[in-house]
Amino acid sequence: MSLALVILAAGKGSRMKSALPKVLHQVGGLSLVEHCLKTGAALDADRTVVVTGHGGEAVGETVSKAAPEATIVTQTDQLGTAHAVDQARAALADHEGYTIVLYGDSPFIRAETITAMHQQCLGGAAVCVLGFEAASPSKYGRLILGPSGLEAIVEAKDATKDQLEITLCNSGVMCAKTRDMFDLIAQVDNANAKGEYYLTDLPGLARAKGGRCAVVTCDEAETLGVDSRIGLAKAETYFQSTARMAAMEAGVTLRDPDTVYFSHDTRLGQDVIVDPFVQFLPGVTVASDVHIKAHSVLEACRVERGAVIGPYARLRPGAAIGENARIGNFVEVKNAQLGTGTKVNHLAYIGDAEIGESANIGAGTITCNYDGVFKHKTKIGARAFIGSNSSLVAPITIGEDALVGSGSVVTKDVGDGDLAVGRAQQVTKPGWGKRFMDKLRNKKAEGK
Ligand code: UD1
Repeated sequence: MSLALVILAAGKGSRMKSALPKVLHQVGGLSLVEHCLKTGAALDADRTVVVTGHGGEAVGETVSKAAPEATIVTQTDQLGTAHAVDQARAALADHEGYTIVLYGDSPFIRAETITAMHQQCLGGAAVCVLGFEAASPSKYGRLILGPSGLEAIVEAKDATKDQLEITLCNSGVMCAKTRDMFDLIAQVDNANAKGEYYLTDLPGLARAKGGRCAVVTCDEAETLGVDSRIGLAKAETYFQSTARMAAMEAGVTLRDPDTVYFSHDTRLGQDVIVDPFVQFLPGVTVASDVHIKAHSVLEACRVERGAVIGPYARLRPGAAIGENARIGNFVEVKNAQLGTGTKVNHLAYIGDAEIGESANIGAGTITCNYDGVFKHKTKIGARAFIGSNSSLVAPITIGEDALVGSGSVVTKDVGDGDLAVGRAQQVTKPGWGKRFMDKLRNKKAEGK
C-alpha cells in the first residue's frame, strides 16, 4: 500500500532570529527539510508534499533541487497544523494509501519508526501517533490513553491539571489513511486556547466515529525539533554523536570521537583511522585502511585504500586520491586526480590536475591553475619528480619519469624522461661571503 509524506515547513521560526527560513538551517551539512526528504526516500514514499509559508520561495528551491518529484504547496496564513496539512488536500486527492505527517524542523525521525506507524494503520488503526516520554513535558501535547488505546491528544494550553501530569507526549508525527485524514481534517475547528486548527484533534474525531487509534513510541531524541539556535546546536550534537557511534560500529577507529565532525553522507571504509579534529564536509568517500591524520578537512572528495592524509591536509571538491598515496601537512588538493602511490607530502597546492602513479611532488610545489579569468589543467605523468618550490604554470604537461629542478617556474611542457630547470643560474664567489660579513661587523664595531 502506498505511502505519501506531508512535510510541514511553513513556520516562521522567529526564535531562530535569521534571514534564512528555519527549515533551511543545516545539521550535518544538510538542511532540516532535506533530512525529512531523505527519510521519505528511504521509505520509498510515492508522493511527497511540502507545505511552505515563510520563506517559501527559498524552501521551494531547495526542495525542488533535492526532490524534483515533490509537490510544493503554500500555506499563506499559518492557522495551525491541521490547516497546514489541509493545504496538501488537492495534491493527494487521488492518493490511495496512507499519509505520514512530518515536521520540517524535526530531522531525526527514522524510516523504521514511520514504518512501525504505517504497520499500525495497516493493522486497522484509524490514526497512529508517534509519542515519546518527555523529560520536561511542559509545552507538548499530551497523549490520553484509555483501555482501547489512544483516546485523544490534549494540547498543553488546553489541558487540565491532571492531564498536565502525563509525560507521554505527542511528537507531531501522525499516520492515517489518506482519504480518512482529509475527511477528519474537514471536521477540525479552532475552538481552543490558541484559536488554531489542531491536527491533534484527529484521534478524538476518529474515535467519535468508532475508530481505534494507536501510539508508537520512540526516544525523545528522535523527535528533537529545532526552533532556536540552541535547538540547532543540540540537534547538531545529537547528529554528530549518532554518526560517530555508527562509524565506530562499522569498524572505523576514531581516536578522539568527540572532536571528529561528520556530514549526513560521509562514507568511511573499514579500518579507517581518524585522528583528532578531523572534519568531513559533505560528499566524502574514504575507502578502507586509510589513515586521516589530525586537523584535516575533507570535502566532496574520494580517498582510495591505504592512503595517508594529513596532518593539516585540505581536500577540496573533486580531489581523488589514489591507493596508498600520501598527502601531507599543509597540502591543498582541489579537482585533481592523484595516482596510486603518489606523494605530495608538504606545503603544496594541487588544483585542476591529473597526476599519474608513483609521482613525487616536492615541498612547496604550486600548480598555477588560474590566470585571473580561466582555470587551466596541469598533467603530470607517472613517476615524475617535481623538485621543491616549483611553480607549474598551467596549462602544462610534465611527462612520465620527467624531472623538474627545484625552484623552477615551468611554463613549457616537459617530455617523458626529460629534465627541466627553470630558475636563475647560481653564481658562487669564493670567500666573498665571509669577507662581506666581516666588513659589516667591523663597521658596527667602529660605531659607523
Ligand atoms: C505541535 C503539536 C503538539 C506537539 C508538538 C511537538 C499541534 C496542535 N500541536 O505543537 O501536540 O507536542 O507539536 O513539537 O499540532 N506549522 C505549519 N503551519 C501552521 C502551524 C504549524 O507549517 O499553521 C508547522 C510548524 O512550522 C512546525 C510544526 O508545524 O514545524 C509544529 O507547529 P507548532 O505550531 O510549532 O506546534 P507546537 O505548538 O509545537
